[in-house]
Amino acid sequence: METFSNLIDLDAYSPDDWNMIVELAQQIQKNPSLYRSRCSGKIMGTLFYEPSTRTQMSFQTAMLRLGGTIIGFDNPSTSSVSKGENLKDTTKIVSNYADILVMRNPYEGSAKAAALTADCPVINAGDGGHLHPTQTLTDLLTLKNEKGRLSDLKIGLCGDLRYGRTVHSLLKALSRYENNEFVLISTPELALPSYIKDVLSARGCLFKEVYSLEDAIGSLDVLYMTRIQKERFSSAEEYDRQKSVFLLDCDKMKKAKEDMIVMHPLPRVDEIEVAIDDDPRAKYFEQAKNGMFVRMALIICVLEGRLGMPKLLCGTVKNDVSCTNKKCISNIEHYLPHSFRVRGDICECEYCDERILLD
Ligand code: NCD
Repeated sequence: METFSNLIDLDAYSPDDWNMIVELAQQIQKNPSLYRSRCSGKIMGTLFYEPSTRTQMSFQTAMLRLGGTIIGFDNPSTSSVSKGENLKDTTKIVSNYADILVMRNPYEGSAKAAALTADCPVINAGDGGHLHPTQTLTDLLTLKNEKGRLSDLKIGLCGDLRYGRTVHSLLKALSRYENNEFVLISTPELALPSYIKDVLSARGCLFKEVYSLEDAIGSLDVLYMTRIQKERFSSAEEYDRQKSVFLLDCDKMKKAKEDMIVMHPLPRVDEIEVAIDDDPRAKYFEQAKNGMFVRMALIICVLEGRLGMPKLLCGTVKNDVSCTNKKCISNIEHYLPHSFRVRGDICECEYCDERILLD
């Protein structure tokens, strides 16, 4: 199996690598015309099995602004996926047409699975409720531009911390910088998965879980709002019980610091009042724009070999054990090796990070 500079999880690279991408994005932002033929002759394939506006279009415009071209689908029903083609075959074929693949898929671990057979680098543009590393690069650039630092920040994350893949990737990344503190604002049902809390604890980060946005807002440097992820709930009733619980309105903004910033990966549903858009502390539209510059930087770093080539699977293959997460790609694409990080009698799935207790 050939390896490439895939971006499946930012943890495969070091904060120095992330900083390199963010700094290059800042240079591109200052002088975009310098980069307009940097990827001339290169082709990017975008395989979007799930809806997207910002991620897909910012990747596509990023490649076009670098002088490259794009192919792909945004609706699997118009591709051979609708005829029953598996992920392996689709990825293998398109990776022979393109120089870099960007994939979004509803199954957790799907980008890693695709990268196992692709003949070019694969970028994870969101794998179910698991991870979204390029949104995190966007968030890091936004924090760097707006706050001037990625450390010594008190960050509140509010909303769907359970299914919100942007939150998972962001917390894993920010926990690698010094002295960041997290306030996790959610209902008990939408609390952060325990494997991410364990990452925070292992890295010595202070964090607390609270319910009230109103009580938390006054002490924050950054408020990262999120949408309740309707499409990830097992029933409409379960979603109805959680929707519209959190609202950032003008009254709550009065309690926030003068220099607090509000971020949101977007799309917004009803969790931020539209009137907040005019508050200078609202940075979510700048954040979305930053996504294009950071993706330009990422494409350059991947295609020019500036990142390492981390191994995709490092654990133990145990084909007699199955991942207990129904949304894990290993339960959908049956040819995949069942690969786990084994810790005592716990197996951690190498695709989706689910923990399985061996009996
Ligand atoms: C996010 C996503 O797809 O996870 N959107 C994005 O990429 N900017 C957030 C969301 O859908 O709520």
